[in-house]
Amino acid sequence: MYGLELAGEEDVFAAYEAKSAAAGVELVAPGLATAGSVTDRVETLAYTRNAIELIGRTDADVGSARALLQAAPIERQGTVAVRARDVRGTSEISTQQAERELGSVLVDRGFAVDLDDPDHLLRVLFSSGVVDADEVAIGPVPDVVGESVDVCLVGWLAAESARDFTERKPTDRPFFQPGSMAPIDARAYANVAGAGRGRLVVDPMCGTGGVLIEAGLVGSRVLGIDAQEKMVRGTRENLETYLPESAEFGVVRGDATALPLCDSGTPDAVDAVVFDAPYGRQSKIARHELAALVEGALADAHRICRSDGRTVLVADRSWREAAISTGWELEAVFRRPVHRSLDRYVHVLSEADDPPLEDPL
Ligand SMILES: C[S@@+](CC[C@H](N)C(=O)[O-])C[C@H]1O[C@@H](n2cnc3c(N)ncnc32)[C@H](O)[C@@H]1O
Repeated sequence: MYGLELAGEEDVFAAYEAKSAAAGVELVAPGLATAGSVTDRVETLAYTRNAIELIGRTDADVGSARALLQAAPIERQGTVAVRARDVRGTSEISTQQAERELGSVLVDRGFAVDLDDPDHLLRVLFSSGVVDADEVAIGPVPDVVGESVDVCLVGWLAAESARDFTERKPTDRPFFQPGSMAPIDARAYANVAGAGRGRLVVDPMCGTGGVLIEAGLVGSRVLGIDAQEKMVRGTRENLETYLPESAEFGVVRGDATALPLCDSGTPDAVDAVVFDAPYGRQSKIARHELAALVEGALADAHRICRSDGRTVLVADRSWREAAISTGWELEAVFRRPVHRSLDRYVHVLSEADDPPLEDPL
């Protein structure tokens, strides 16, 4: 069993993204989840900070955590350190006291402490409060939502995600345009869509290439399309800057409603489509009315995406009807706040079992 320390404030969304790197993910408290198993993909997650190999779970108080550690079998050797965290700052725990008390349990059990470079790092993660699911517009809500919980997860650090998103701030990139997506969100959407080693990920409205950079950095082959030549050139420059030399990428000028790609079912079909639709404020909507553009892009994404693939559509409103009418099933829609006057609707789409009727009566 593993514990996951989540990042951000939207726990259901964070746990949803974590499923791209872990199996049996279950939200247990604000900012905390458990998982049956994890993969090395944890390192690529946007909204998970780290995974710990669980020793156990107790109530959120230092005495219970200490008793758990005293009773637990420990089959490790080498130096140790303890790091405690009040994940949401709501559990009224003294993390220093927790570190001292659990550290002394380890010393009593014969371990030497090395605070700077321990062989094993014990994480003690406290969280209390009510789990909310404010961001879920459509989709399953975990059982724990609405409950007031009080949880401490104790375990050995197993994997940490790279918190390097600020190194790729849109304003610092060689090519920047207003409306570029934050790297942490672009990474999360790419992960949710199924980006990963060898996967072919397409952004049919790539803008400055934010999604493609993140999908490429987790090992995907990436292809960007944009109606504007300056975006095509700019995305290419950004990808050349941030992706390793070995990365496979392409960027072409084109129309998201008529992509220059084969139908799904061919051996090199697209594994995932991710796109950020124009908001009708800043982005130029080339050749189409917004509704026709989004519907046409969803239909073409459905045409090119393999049957077990996903599309993630990010927009400033719900495109539920358009998604359904173009053959997609809505696995979930998250409504994520950007600022006071803007929410982002993140639609997670997969192949509908029954294609929609061509001409419903
Ligand atoms: C919201 S922006 C994408 C921003 C991007 N995710 C980023 O991080 O920079 C939408 C993009 O859609 C492009 N676009 C508009 N109409 C299009 C069409 N018919 N086909 C392809 N791209 C189109 C615009 O040129 C713009 O770059």
